[in-house]
Amino acid sequence: MEILFATHNKNKLVEVKNLLPKKITILSLEDINHFKEVVEDKKTILENAVKKASEIYKITGRICFADDTGLEVEELGGKPGVHSKRFAGRNADNMDNINKLLKLMKNKSNRKARFVTIISLIIDGKIKNFEGICNGDIAQEKKGDKGFGYDSVFIPTGQKLTFAEMDIDKKNLLAHRAIAVKKLVFFLIKQFNANS
Ligand code: IMP
Repeated sequence: MEILFATHNKNKLVEVKNLLPKKITILSLEDINHFKEVVEDKKTILENAVKKASEIYKITGRICFADDTGLEVEELGGKPGVHSKRFAGRNADNMDNINKLLKLMKNKSNRKARFVTIISLIIDGKIKNFEGICNGDIAQEKKGDKGFGYDSVFIPTGQKLTFAEMDIDKKNLLAHRAIAVKKLVFFLIKQFNANS
C-alpha cells in the first residue's frame, strides 16, 4: 500500500517512517514534487490537520494523511496550542518560540503541559482522524539537540530527559505523534486485510 504523508517536515517523516510496517510505503510531498505549503489558519488542531490532508488529496487524488500538533501549557491556559508554530510571531523559528515559552514560564511552579497530535487520513474520499496525546512538563531550560520544535523543553511524564535528549526510538515509545500513528497503522492494516 502506497500512502502520501502531506508534510515538508523531514523530522516528522523520519519519525513516522520508523513506525510503519514494511507493507506500507510512505511518500512525502518532496517525493511527488509538491513544494507549496498549506496555510495553517484554522482555529483548532483538528481543523488544520483536516485542511492539510484535504488540500493535498484534492490535488493528488492519492490516499494521504497529514498531522497537526500543538503544545498546550496548563499555566498559559492551553497556549500556544494551535498557534505553536507561530507562537513568537509570523516569522518565528523554533528558537524564538522556545525562548518566548521559557520567558513566560520563568519562576512558574506549575509546568504541566501536553503535546496533542491529530492525524487526518483521507481514504476513498472519506476522512478519518486519529489523536495522540503525551503529557509532561516544561523544562527549566533547553536540553538536548535531537528532535525538533519544542523537544528540547519538554520532559514526558515519568522521564528525566527532554525529548531532544532521547533517541528517536525512545521518543517514539512515548510521544503524541507515535500514539496517533499507531492508531493510523492499525486502521490501515485492517483496510489492507479487508481488501486483499
Ligand atoms: P505543525 O504540526 O508542523 O504545525 O507544528 C506546530 C508546532 O509544533 C511547530 O512549532 C513544530 O515545530 C512543533 N512540533 C510539532 N511536533 C512536535 C514534536 O513532536 N516535538 C516538538 N515540537 C513539535
